Amino acid sequence: MAPEELAKWDISIPPSGEGLPPGSGTVKAGEGVYLQKCAACHGAKGTGKPADALAGGEGTLATKQAVRTVGSYWPYATTLFDYVRRAMPITNPLSLTNDEVYAVTAYVLHLNGIVGEEAQMNAATLPRVKMPNRDGFIDDWRARAGK
Ligand code: HEC
Repeated sequence: MAPEELAKWDISIPPSGEGLPPGSGTVKAGEGVYLQKCAACHGAKGTGKPADALAGGEGTLATKQAVRTVGSYWPYATTLFDYVRRAMPITNPLSLTNDEVYAVTAYVLHLNGIVGEEAQMNAATLPRVKMPNRDGFIDDWRARAGK
């Protein structure tokens, strides 16, 4: 595959945010994107149905009815950008502009109470967002190896 072809697929964003593209988006702009392109499947305000809930579930992980959402479960905000850019809307992946992805990322974080309504997401602010369940994971490999 030619390097420029490969670059179109090589879009993973690690927790550090390395590789995040230029652009930005506000919670307000993200609400517009969400209502138009996400709400039909993820419910008004991310409550879910028919597809996964994107908000809520705090405090449920240690219970038998764990509700895993972006807010309750995901350890890194950068993953939200990466996943939405790559896979959503599920019927038309890779169709959003980078600004739209930043905006809808900001909105979903806001629905979870993680960022305020004036928040703006971009390559600098997004990696600094601390997710509630950031420290809820253990490194299983190290644990098994006794390290
Ligand atoms: C046509 C329905 C549909 C639309 C529209 C849609 N999604 Fe999804 N979304 C899904 C389905 C189905 C899944 C589960 C995919 C899977 O598990 O492989 C999903 C999964 C997700 C997840 C992962 C949830 C989790 O915790 O695992 C996120 C985040 C997400 N969508 C965000 C969005 C955003 C943001 C938009 C709008 C830009 C959007 N989706 C539009 C159907 C949709």
